[in-house]
Amino acid sequence: MEKKIRQYLGEQSLVGRTLLCFDEIGSTNTHLKCLALEGAEDGTAVIAAVQTAGRGRMDRSFQSPKGKGIYLSVLLRPEVPMERLMCVTALAGVAVCDAVEELCGVRPGLKWPNDPVLGNQKLCGILTELVMMPDGTPAVVLGIGLNVLQSETDFSPEVRPIATSLAMELGYAGSVEELAAALLRQLDCMYGALRTNRMAGYLSAYRKGCVHLGKQVRLIGPTSQETVLALEIDEDFGLVVLGADGQRRTVHTGELSVRGLYGYAES
Ligand code: BTN
Repeated sequence: MEKKIRQYLGEQSLVGRTLLCFDEIGSTNTHLKCLALEGAEDGTAVIAAVQTAGRGRMDRSFQSPKGKGIYLSVLLRPEVPMERLMCVTALAGVAVCDAVEELCGVRPGLKWPNDPVLGNQKLCGILTELVMMPDGTPAVVLGIGLNVLQSETDFSPEVRPIATSLAMELGYAGSVEELAAALLRQLDCMYGALRTNRMAGYLSAYRKGCVHLGKQVRLIGPTSQETVLALEIDEDFGLVVLGADGQRRTVHTGELSVRGLYGYAES
């Protein structure tokens, strides 16, 4: 795997300059968080052919069958204000769409806040974790799990109704490594934009790709649900909605989850 990824990867300015490849790992995010605390350099990437304990958001697991997907984590140590760090997950969603479009010619949509989707099904999961260094500076471990060659039976019965892969949607039978290299390149560009505060292109790509705008969605909280109209994405990638009470308000990442009215992303 390593040889092939390096073959496809060009000169990287930061992301993937240090690239650590594993045949098998528990979780690339967990491993990279340890490396971060040991002082790993900015842009270090960890990628594995299989994860035995892949983690998702909200303490869920992330299914990571061998050789079928991209299981990648990247360490970012940008010297930027905390508000800008909060945009990393949304920016990474756009970078995933850029990489898939580059190789497959089809651009996934984005389910707010950060899941690339195809055919209204989840194609990719993104888990961003903050690590506080002993000197008080924050580092970000950005974990991406992109479903590439899975068929329906590679997903458990619980995940099957919402998950998909590039093979299932587009008949993609190409190289996981070539796609991983494309993703590292796009993440390198994204990181450049984040560090230099040139994120306008990413914001407009996000707005264009967001599958909910102009549609009704369900906002799901810990104890209640509400159907709202998704209006727009604000400057900080928040979702502006019109509530059932006729009030306009903004929902921020991590507060609530969003579902389409008729399925995972479909409204
Ligand atoms: C989610 O949708 O809940 C987020 C899933 C994130 C999965 C990726 S795979 C690479 C990295 N390592 C992990 O353990 N998780 C992330």
